[in-house]
Amino acid sequence: MTEAIDTIRATPSAVTAPSPLLSVRNIEVVYDDVILVLRGLSLEVPQGAIVALLGANGAGKSTTLKAISGLLKTEDGEVTRGEIIFNGERINGIDPDKIVRRGIFQVMEGRRIISDMTSLETCGSAPSPAATTESQPISKWFSTISRG
Ligand SMILES: Nc1ncnc2c1ncn2[C@@H]1O[C@H](COP(=O)(O)OP(=O)(O)O)[C@@H](O)[C@H]1O
Ligand SMILES: [Mg+2]
Repeated sequence: MTEAIDTIRATPSAVTAPSPLLSVRNIEVVYDDVILVLRGLSLEVPQGAIVALLGANGAGKSTTLKAISGLLKTEDGEVTRGEIIFNGERINGIDPDKIVRRGIFQVMEGRRIISDMTSLETCGSAPSPAATTESQPISKWFSTISRG
């Protein structure tokens, strides 16, 4: 299934990132202890870049995102191999509420949790890794993304 997933990167040329913000390294994901859904999946999100994950229905896109956010646990899923590194720290195996405090979270599709927010407001609601107790202004969040 993982062969069917492609990533498209928009990496600004002006950005020189020594290490990626997010690295998914050779992960395997299993649901209910037996259903192998992802095998050998790797991707990177460089500092200051946007990465899109594309694939057919059932290819494993949502599972990949849930592995990163920790929400796999809520569906009896588990990262059984590989590792996920965010901001230099391994986050797989950590509870989702602790992962979100590190500055990364998943916006679930079609759940209408924040349906009355614009895309800008949704992006601005992401916690900053540097400030976990109070939200950062949207302008500060966007300043981390170069449009070069
Ligand atoms: N909670 C779950 N338990 C068992 N299998 C699941 C679960 N969620 C997804 N799957 C299976 O994992 C595969 C990938 O699903 P998913 O990650 O939702 O794909 P996508 O988001 O790319 O459409 C599918 O075969 C799907 O049936
Ligand atoms: Mg999906």
